[in-house]
Amino acid sequence: MANENITGKVFKILKYPNPELKKIAEPVEKFDDELAELVKNLFATMHANDGVGLAATQVGIEKRVAVVEYKENSYVLINPRLISTEGEQEGEEGCLSFPGIYAKFKRPMKVKIEAQDVNGNKNIYEAEGYTARAFVHEMDHLDGKVFIDYLSNFKQGAIKKKLIKNTGGHF
Ligand code: NI
Repeated sequence: MANENITGKVFKILKYPNPELKKIAEPVEKFDDELAELVKNLFATMHANDGVGLAATQVGIEKRVAVVEYKENSYVLINPRLISTEGEQEGEEGCLSFPGIYAKFKRPMKVKIEAQDVNGNKNIYEAEGYTARAFVHEMDHLDGKVFIDYLSNFKQGAIKKKLIKNTGGHF
């Protein structure tokens, strides 16, 4: 179910190479109103930026919380844990912290993950294709990892140059 009717605060998304993107997020222990508010605001921020996923790390909040929304399905991933992966897919990937940058590389074709919802209930999600890619992308953010980490140094260098050009060199 899409969450188009959800309103909330739109956070400013941190852009690479902001060092906050490299921080490892802390597990969520309190399933309270503040957490529900954070999830609502992450959805609002993702919608405002036409994203398919967003991790709390990308808005400077070091909590293991991410949201994913793709093809009318939305997912709240709190303390997500990868259980298993299967196969391989190659596809183009982008990130709200890297405006205008896309890169092609391999990810698992299928993933099985466990994640908690805002009430602390554990859910198992089995996803494939683009949703699987989005899940692992967001889970990486919670470990301080970004998608260009999967690329060669040469490609990473080219992306950095492009970002400098786009932003006028604020690095
Ligand atoms: Ni991202």
